[in-house]
Amino acid sequence: MTDTQKTAQLSLNGETYELPVFSPSVGPDVLDIRKLYAQAGVFTYDPGFTSTASCDSTITYIDGEEGILLHRGYPIDQLAAKSHYLEVCYLLLYGELPTAAQLEDFETRVTRHTMVHEQMHNFFRGFRRDAHPMATLVGVVGAMSAFYHDSTDIADPWQREVAAIRLIAKLPTIAAMAHKYSIGQPFVYPRNDLDYAANFLHMCFSVPAEQYHVDPILSRAMDRIFTLHADHEQNASTSTVRLASSSGANPFACIAAGIACLWGPAHGGANQACLEMLKEIGSVDRIPEFIARAKDKNDPFRLMGFGHRVYKNTDPRAKVLKQSADEVLELLGVENNPLLQVAKELEQTALNDPYFIEKKLFPNVDFYSGIILEAMGFPTAMFTPIFALSRTVGWISQWKEMIGDPQNKIGRPRQLYLGETARDYVDIENR
Ligand code: SDX
Repeated sequence: MTDTQKTAQLSLNGETYELPVFSPSVGPDVLDIRKLYAQAGVFTYDPGFTSTASCDSTITYIDGEEGILLHRGYPIDQLAAKSHYLEVCYLLLYGELPTAAQLEDFETRVTRHTMVHEQMHNFFRGFRRDAHPMATLVGVVGAMSAFYHDSTDIADPWQREVAAIRLIAKLPTIAAMAHKYSIGQPFVYPRNDLDYAANFLHMCFSVPAEQYHVDPILSRAMDRIFTLHADHEQNASTSTVRLASSSGANPFACIAAGIACLWGPAHGGANQACLEMLKEIGSVDRIPEFIARAKDKNDPFRLMGFGHRVYKNTDPRAKVLKQSADEVLELLGVENNPLLQVAKELEQTALNDPYFIEKKLFPNVDFYSGIILEAMGFPTAMFTPIFALSRTVGWISQWKEMIGDPQNKIGRPRQLYLGETARDYVDIENR
């Protein structure tokens, strides 16, 4: 934490309290209110955490007004263009871009952890075939703490490291198994001769009956999607992982909690919901009807893939994904995909509509990703599992940062209580 010279004064009930002010490397100052309740006997109130910093961190910085996203200081558009997912994983986990030797060692360690315990295959067979893959992912990842006991002691730095590598390595295998299980095809083992993205495509799309050739175009697009979803500051699912970890729960249980939170349509579930919305709209001439619904306060409908708690200008990831959608669909020969046309027309219509302009609603990371994933052959139910496997490195990096912080303590918010004050029990005959 930076040494603070600045303070803020709070006048309350005739008293004045001095609050330390901390200045970040970049971004808004923060008021340190840790002693506020002890000194002034009051809580602060911020249900959606719109103005609350839950921690300090050195991993990811977002500037919502400027549409900036930095991972350890490197802009996301540069990482998407010049790096690749496992290198970004190294950067997020260890803070610096790796040397060639460090990267080779890291990639080898991840590659050698991609298989899951053979007993886990039986675990899958307890689910219904039509279970949503996110339900399977939550269950199987949580169950990893029942298979990998030698990497659950969070007090042991070596076990923390092994758990991190295991989660990054095994999430694609587990997500691919959830997909295969849902379509009644046999599980496909990972291959050590394939890179991370190619291996995932292989485990999802190859079948024993014939050779599967990984298309390098799809593999590059897959890797870019992983990179664009890797981490995003203190979003809902990352905050869930941090809060779960603050009680000392094992990393597998905490990541399972993050997966559960990500599933919601307001968060990572928006990519599936967005594609379903685009299909419901169906053609550009129905766009005005849906724009009107999105603006109607009496209609719960929202434009999925639009809006963001932090980005009030543009989501830099959406820009890269829009370019990638054009490239991938053209390379796949489906550039005239009607969904892409509807998405582009919807974006232009919304961006020129006073309602969306005034409320600063722009396409977010989930607006174009589904179009690419569908063109690559994934069912919509696999979109959020792909988001989850991509975000695992972000969750784990934030988890490592928190567990390694000596100031780390259990998260325990308070409340504004509006319920009944104390009253005596009433016997049932008197009610
Ligand atoms: C992700 O936090 C992260 O970093 C998340 C994420 C990550 O990488 O981890 O970026 C990933 O979750 C992206 C967001 C995916 N979700 C969606 O696309 C679902 C649709 N969007 C929304 O539900 C909404 O925009 C949120 C949840 C994303 C943000 O909600 P906020 O910040 O709480 O904003 P809000 O709900 O208070 O909305 C502000 C106003 C409201 O109108 P008023 O009450 O002020 O009149 O804007 C309106 C909302 O009704 N509004 C929308 C809208 N989103 C907000 N109106 C129509 N369509 C929308 N999509």
